[in-house]
Amino acid sequence: MGKSISLCIWLLALLSIFVQADEHTHVYSDNEETILWMNTVGPYSNRQETYSYFSLPFCKGNKESIGHYHETLGEALLGVELEHSGIDIRFKVNTPKEEICRRVMSNDDYEAMSFAIQHDYSYQMYLDDLPLWTLVGEVDPADHNAVLLYTHKKFEIGYNGEQVVDVNITVDNKVTLKPNMEVIYTYEVIWKPSGIQFENRFDKYLDPTFFQHRIHWFSIFNSFMMVIFLVGLVWMILLRTLNKDYARYHKDDVESDDNDIGEDYGWKQVHGDVFRPPSYPLLFSSIIGTGYHLLSVVFVMIALAIVAEFYTQRGSLMSATIFVYALCAPFNGYFGGGMYSRLSGKRWIKQMVVGSLLFPVMIGTVALTINWISIYYHASRAIPFTTMLAILAICSFVVLPLNFLGTILGRNLKGQADIPCRINVVPRPIPDKKWFLEPWFIVIVSGFLPFGSIFIEMYFIFTSFWAYKIYYVYGFMFLVTLILMVVTACVTIVSTYFLLNAEDYRWRWCSFLSGGSVSVYVYLYSIYYFLFKTKMYGLFQTVFYFGYMGLFSIALGVLCGTVGYISTASFIHKIYSRIKLD
Ligand SMILES: *[C@@H]1O[C@H](CO)[C@@H](O)[C@H](O)[C@H]1NC(C)=O
Repeated sequence: MGKSISLCIWLLALLSIFVQADEHTHVYSDNEETILWMNTVGPYSNRQETYSYFSLPFCKGNKESIGHYHETLGEALLGVELEHSGIDIRFKVNTPKEEICRRVMSNDDYEAMSFAIQHDYSYQMYLDDLPLWTLVGEVDPADHNAVLLYTHKKFEIGYNGEQVVDVNITVDNKVTLKPNMEVIYTYEVIWKPSGIQFENRFDKYLDPTFFQHRIHWFSIFNSFMMVIFLVGLVWMILLRTLNKDYARYHKDDVESDDNDIGEDYGWKQVHGDVFRPPSYPLLFSSIIGTGYHLLSVVFVMIALAIVAEFYTQRGSLMSATIFVYALCAPFNGYFGGGMYSRLSGKRWIKQMVVGSLLFPVMIGTVALTINWISIYYHASRAIPFTTMLAILAICSFVVLPLNFLGTILGRNLKGQADIPCRINVVPRPIPDKKWFLEPWFIVIVSGFLPFGSIFIEMYFIFTSFWAYKIYYVYGFMFLVTLILMVVTACVTIVSTYFLLNAEDYRWRWCSFLSGGSVSVYVYLYSIYYFLFKTKMYGLFQTVFYFGYMGLFSIALGVLCGTVGYISTASFIHKIYSRIKLD
């Protein structure tokens, strides 16, 4: 009872984090203050490396500051750092060119500013939640050692009724930067009536010509063909293996080679060993439980993303993912705990803790490493201490209890072993076989087709994460995910069939790893992407990129591995339960 009450309180606290995200009504009366928030500045070639805007020698306008923007959890994790610009902008009031502030560039300021300009730094602002980007300056085309700083900002704001629906910024008035000079920053505001509907004001940030390119459609079509082929293949294998048993019932067409299953070659030989628990059952069930968990999160999130337009709310995708992850924790316990019990594991509390913390600890390790580097670089990516506490609290007060609940349910409802063949007491020796039937080879090769079905989508996802594109085609993503699941399932079934025919019964880990090996290819692809599609440089960007890409690949691997294992397990149940009939 006490537990459930504290759980409710936590859920409410979590919910309030999301409700705060909508504190603006987005309706203004004439002459009402419209706040321009300065967000972050960073190199154009890597959207994820960001610093606070005022870490560069800009300066604030003299308008009274109204304190810090109230951040959501997702924003804090994403390094959003909104600070009031001090620029006075009023709804439907045009402002001719006016001074914001002036600043004398010290030597340090000069160094910082010219470094930023030479590395194509750009900064981002928000006006009524609409993002604006612009470059800090440019290298003087006439003299490559000199840099030009843009000192004038012209805002053109479109309004429709009482709402802001469009914002453009143009920068102007280049000055050649020199140490000890005085820079005068100026701005100008022009309001224009606009026909854009408020609901559609984010459309201009989407890029249909990029995302709905022929290539995109073509790749889906291609993968779909592959799915048909693979499903056909699996179907044939099933028919072939089951047909022999079928023939036995019709005594009239008994063939000479199936007089007794005990003497048969191949997969039937290992019927006394296939249902032997895998090595490391605790780890195995924890990983499979995590896989189910991630699977549920991915499907819920894609479904939510198709319905809700997350890109219109900063950080909401991130907050929602954490929320959904916490709520889906029972799946982890239910499937992981149930499986551990079926494998007759005894230390179920340990399994539950390992299962629920496996993935969070992995993320935490990578995030903390990157955090150290961000702190060293003073990047805005550094996660605030309170946010870390919040995450820790969610893990221990929501994820763990829910996981516990799932484990109890799983052990009671799905904890009984239901295997069609008895396990022999003495394990059968595994015969020598050709190198291409060795598990490691099967594992490596199996990842290839699943990778083939997603690598074009990977390009779109990577590009929207590392470059300036908003990913919005979640329908595509949904299709590709489905295709990936089906391809993975088929490929692991086929490869497990080969493994069992070579009389090797260690299919559990093998089917998991066969499904998961797609992550190796994805990681290799991300290296290619880093080298040839991005212009990232420096320790921070490199560690950040490879750290998060590694996490992404591992998560994908666990997910696909689980799908591979689930489908193989049901395939094996099917074919071996036919044996029992004799
Ligand atoms: C912003 O720029 C776009 C493209 O140049 C233009 O169509 C739109 O009218 C501009 N909006 C405002 C408010 O000036």
